[in-house]
Amino acid sequence: MKIIVCKDYDEMSVEAAKIVAAQMKEKKDSILGLATGSTPLGLYNELVKMNQCGEIDFSEIKTFNLDEYYPISHKDDQSYYYFMNENLFSRVNIDPANTDIPNGEAPDAEAECKRYDAAIDASAGVDIQILGIGQNGHIAFNEASDVLHANTHQETLTENTIQANSRFFENEADVPRHALTMGVGSIMKARKIILLASGKNKRDAVRALTDDTITTQNPATLLKLHKDVIIICDEEAMG
Ligand code: F6R
Repeated sequence: MKIIVCKDYDEMSVEAAKIVAAQMKEKKDSILGLATGSTPLGLYNELVKMNQCGEIDFSEIKTFNLDEYYPISHKDDQSYYYFMNENLFSRVNIDPANTDIPNGEAPDAEAECKRYDAAIDASAGVDIQILGIGQNGHIAFNEASDVLHANTHQETLTENTIQANSRFFENEADVPRHALTMGVGSIMKARKIILLASGKNKRDAVRALTDDTITTQNPATLLKLHKDVIIICDEEAMG
C-alpha cells in the first residue's frame, strides 16, 4: 500500500487525476471504477479540464460505479445516476452506453445485483477503481460489520452513514436507508485501487490503514490484501 499525503484537497485531486489520466493514455479503452460523494469531485473536475483541452479522451472508456441508493429514481438529484451525469458524464466525451451504475429504479434488487456482477464479469475487468472512505471505514456501501459480502448486494445503511450523508438532503429522514453496492470482492478484483480521503473527520478511518491489522469493522483495511493500492489523502485526513 502506497500512501501519498498532499498539502490539501486540491493537490490531492490533481495527484489522483494524473494517475487516472496516465492509465487512460496508456489504454484507450480502460475500464474505470467510479465513486460518488464529495471526495472525488475535485478529481472529476480535473479530468473534465484535461478532456476539454484534448489531453485525455473518454470515447472508448467504460465505467462501472460502486453503488446507488435503493430504491431511487434516476431523476432524483440525490441519486448517484444524477450525480455522475451532472459531475462527469455530461461534461466529457464518454458514450453513455459505456457507463453502468447499479439501477436504483430496478423492480427487483436481487436480480439487479446479479445483472451488475454479470456485467462486470463480462467486461475485461476494472483497471483503476476510485474509492472514497466513510468515517466508519466503509468502502462503497460495505458498512462496518462482522460479515461482509463479496458480490453486489443490497445493504442497509448504518446510522453513521445516514448522518454523514444527511448533509446532502433537506432532512435526515429523507436519506434512503438502503443501497445497492459492489461487494468487497468485486472491489478487490480491480487491477489498481486509488482511495481518496480528505478532512479531519476521516482521520480515524485513514489511520487504521497505516498499521498491519485487518478487520471487517473497518472494511477499508481489507485493501491491505491488495497488491496495488494508493491512498491519496490530505494532511488533515492523515493528521
Ligand atoms: C460513494 C461511496 C461511499 C463514499 C464515502 C465517502 O460512491 O462509495 O463509500 O465514498 O461515503 O463519502 P464522501 O466522499 O462524501 O465523504
